[in-house]
Amino acid sequence: MIVTAHLSDLHIDGRQRSIDRTRAVMEYLDALPDALDAVVVTGDIADNGLPDEYELARELLTSRHPVLVCPGNHDERAAFRRSLLGEPASTAPVNQVHRTDGFVVALCDSSVPGKDEGFIEDDTLLWLEDVLAQTPGDVPVLVGFHHPPALLQDPYIDGLRQFGEHRLAALVERFPNIAALICGHAHTAATTTFAGKPLLVAPGVVSTLRLPWEHYDHPADHVHLNLPPALVFHVLDDAGRLTSHYRSVAC
Ligand SMILES: [Fe+2]
Ligand SMILES: [Fe+2]
Repeated sequence: MIVTAHLSDLHIDGRQRSIDRTRAVMEYLDALPDALDAVVVTGDIADNGLPDEYELARELLTSRHPVLVCPGNHDERAAFRRSLLGEPASTAPVNQVHRTDGFVVALCDSSVPGKDEGFIEDDTLLWLEDVLAQTPGDVPVLVGFHHPPALLQDPYIDGLRQFGEHRLAALVERFPNIAALICGHAHTAATTTFAGKPLLVAPGVVSTLRLPWEHYDHPADHVHLNLPPALVFHVLDDAGRLTSHYRSVAC
């Protein structure tokens, strides 16, 4: 059995709120009795893409578990690379693969510098195709990115989703060993499907999306600030079948 913790949207900005919430989630994960196979953070690590925010994020995300991160629309590729990955600064897409004998996590950069909506560049799709082609057909793969490529029935988030998604769908349909697609950006625990696979959206650590039927007297307010930080565990069994458990964390 493979257990991966998936969190998203820390929005580290130096303020105590984002620090406390990220710390609560990471302390919860570090206090688990057994080692996790991976902790995946699907973007919006820093709120403003600043080097100081990434230094803080790097400290907060230090864990006894392997931690994998991908950028979101609030991130800045060069600072992200330098601080979180220890790589030379570059504005090329940040794509990463984590391989073990039992599973693969492929994290694609869906960010578009200067924009809030997402798009996976052709070079990134070619990179993903190569990762999938090099993976044995009996090894399950989680494909992650920041922006959901499908409608989530929230007009605010749907307007900022991942576009050009038919290209990703065509690729996903060729690889039956993709167990699921995982993403963030929406700040809400949500599930739907994309290209015949589960599309699993991590809840937000820093805040929770206020759904259209929750707007009450504040139609311009897109988030709940009083709901607890949360994450999701993705569990792969020996047949590569996926089960996901959503968990909120006391803070
Ligand atoms: Fe976000
Ligand atoms: Fe985002």
